[in-house]
Amino acid sequence: MSELPDVADNFTALAGEPPEGVWVAPGRINLIGEHTDYNGGYVLPFAIPQAARLAAGRRDRDVWRFRSLDLQSTVEQESLTPGTHGWHSYLAGVVWSLREAGHSVGGADFVLTSDVPIGAGLSSSAAIECATLTALCDLYHLDIDPMQRARLAQRAENAYVGAPTGLMDQAASTLCTADHALFLDCHTLEVRQVPLDVRAAGLEILVVDTKTPHSHVDGEYAARRASCERACRILGIDLLREVTDLDAALARLPELEARRVRHVVTENQRVLEAVDALADADFARVGRLMTASHASMRDDYEITVPTVDLAVETLLGAGALGARMTGGGFGGCVLALIPAADAEAAATAVQRAFTAAGFGAPVSFLAHPSAGARRLA
Ligand code: GLA
Repeated sequence: MSELPDVADNFTALAGEPPEGVWVAPGRINLIGEHTDYNGGYVLPFAIPQAARLAAGRRDRDVWRFRSLDLQSTVEQESLTPGTHGWHSYLAGVVWSLREAGHSVGGADFVLTSDVPIGAGLSSSAAIECATLTALCDLYHLDIDPMQRARLAQRAENAYVGAPTGLMDQAASTLCTADHALFLDCHTLEVRQVPLDVRAAGLEILVVDTKTPHSHVDGEYAARRASCERACRILGIDLLREVTDLDAALARLPELEARRVRHVVTENQRVLEAVDALADADFARVGRLMTASHASMRDDYEITVPTVDLAVETLLGAGALGARMTGGGFGGCVLALIPAADAEAAATAVQRAFTAAGFGAPVSFLAHPSAGARRLA
């Protein structure tokens, strides 16, 4: 993160005066619990060191100016219209979401940079939204608790940007703490900080960015969500979390919906088991649950692609205790729980396998659970 360009200096160059502050909000990796959030289920993400960094200052009238240092682009607007596209919609959407909820938020200048890879399934958009939200809460003295902030950021993504995502990413970016994963019950909104210290056990979390880009604004994510909603209608329930007898539910569903439901219901169970396994520091069990989660995403939810499947297989063959795709799917990143001594060789093995398969070069890094959104000193 220290490699990021200086947003404060660039703000001064843009606005003619220094920013009122600098805020930061991270991307996330989901350890387990995929496509469960919008089904009222459980997730277990942690924040990564890669983050969006934002310098901001108020203006005396309702004008918003957004500058991206990474894209070398500046956009200024005097109105906020849901459905507007472009990189700045993630910031403008948050202003809109706050105002729409009745909070008194006026104009502002923003200068943004981020080292969360875009389209890698690491929530680059939530990082921008949550940095913007944290900045505006401080600048306009809004007393909004962290979960409500996450929901307002999610509303920006859903209603302004137009991506029908769940709450996980914004909750992770806002509520995660260093050295912990965040257990979130997406229905009751119960949260628990779950210690996640894999290094004490001689392990690492190795992340492989397959460089197969994915997007949530496109159709597949919405299609998965729609099939869950269809299944709920058939079963006469509001949310798939209400399924108590899986076999009975499956017997009542068409084949496609049955597979989607089996993924969601078993994935929820795997999250609860992973929380238990972490409490016992039973990382072998956590690993098995991760690998089972991947198989379920591949076979039942059908959201993996050949690059991520090859990365997972190769990592398992190279000594990982478990490996799975993380995020919305159709590309992006894979994470593996792996003995520290094997991590480098495993990353090399994935690189070789990708070359042999004719895929583009992946990028690997080690992830450590980091802090959520905050103001920098
Ligand atoms: C994306 C969405 C999340 C969640 C995941 C899948 O990251 O933004 O809300 O649904 O996909 O678990």
